[in-house]
Amino acid sequence: MKFLRLLPFVVALPLAAQQRVALTPPMGWNSWNHFAGRVTDADVRAAADAIVSSGMKDAGYIYVNIDDTWEGKRDASGVLHTNEKFPDMKALGDYIHSKGLKFGIYSSPGPQTCARFEGSYQHEEQDAKTWAEWGVDYIKYDLCSYRTIMREAAAKDPANGEKIQSDLMRQAYQKISDAIRKTGRPMVLSLCQYGWDEVWTWAPSLGGNLWRSTGDISDSYLSMSQIGFSQAGLSKYAGPGHWNDPDMLEVGNGRMTAEEYRTHMSLWSLLAAPLLAGNDLSKMSDETKSILLNKEVIAIDQDSLGKQGDRVWGKGALEVWAKPLSNGKVAVGLFNRSLEAAPVSVRFADAGAKSSAKVRDVWAGKDLGTKQGSYTANVAAHGVVLLILE
Ligand code: GLA
Repeated sequence: MKFLRLLPFVVALPLAAQQRVALTPPMGWNSWNHFAGRVTDADVRAAADAIVSSGMKDAGYIYVNIDDTWEGKRDASGVLHTNEKFPDMKALGDYIHSKGLKFGIYSSPGPQTCARFEGSYQHEEQDAKTWAEWGVDYIKYDLCSYRTIMREAAAKDPANGEKIQSDLMRQAYQKISDAIRKTGRPMVLSLCQYGWDEVWTWAPSLGGNLWRSTGDISDSYLSMSQIGFSQAGLSKYAGPGHWNDPDMLEVGNGRMTAEEYRTHMSLWSLLAAPLLAGNDLSKMSDETKSILLNKEVIAIDQDSLGKQGDRVWGKGALEVWAKPLSNGKVAVGLFNRSLEAAPVSVRFADAGAKSSAKVRDVWAGKDLGTKQGSYTANVAAHGVVLLILE
């Protein structure tokens, strides 16, 4: 009897522990956006070195994550080994840890990853054990070829096809979540299935700490802005331990202007998005550093209240987004998606702030004094003015 009354706590405990590994949105670096399939052990070590020497580690960027294409073949007992680009994954993990950083890796619930390397299908427990032995702290689990398994199952019973696919997908993520828990090593669990099936409604309950809410980002204003501004309405699904993930940062990869990269960084911070830099950290311009390392912008993303921001006003190409912060402050982004500079106003009431507020321009690093009711700024083309209202 007594045990039965305690049961809910016994069941709830591991999930709460899982949420604790990501009380604020994860920050770090991931190899994919810059290196894609070319990434090697040496690139990852160089990234770990640069994260420390650039000051990124001190600013909160802790995870060093290898994306797809590290995988080799399975041996006779099914244990997955690395390919020649990664001669010794345990040694690489030790190197990352020796710098006070954390180590992330990538796999798929399918037989093959998206880049057609070996996936974890039917080897989930075995692979989770291998990752734990390597010292992995973060796993990105990318649907990829598992879609074929879902589709084939659905084709056998078309009337229930959608439900079959949805169930299979959830089971696959539950399976890896359980396998990770069984290793006893805490790992951040990142779901990557491109936002299908309203993943934000079910990922947290199976131990997901973050879930991609869209398709893949690329290094262009069009891609970044379509993804970022499409996040309106998702704020209620995020909170400490579980975050919407509009994909990794492109800041510093070279195909957007500094203004556009500031828009990217501002919007991701207002969204309480994971901040995973995706550039070559060993070759960063001062401009890139000034964007990735702005402490006040990072503080908006990492605010302990853990509330995601949302759109509070929009008209044509002009949008205002607001994120409630601890201590009653509010972060506000005035965005201009058009090709010409334009004035954008925030009414404090729309942003959930009091009618009289001290206004700070975050990128300019300037206090603008106390304003009544609203504030208007001229916003550059594709640009942002990021404010804190107090
Ligand atoms: C998918 C993911 C990307 C990346 C690649 C790797 O496209 O969405 O983020 O991991 O696979 O193959």
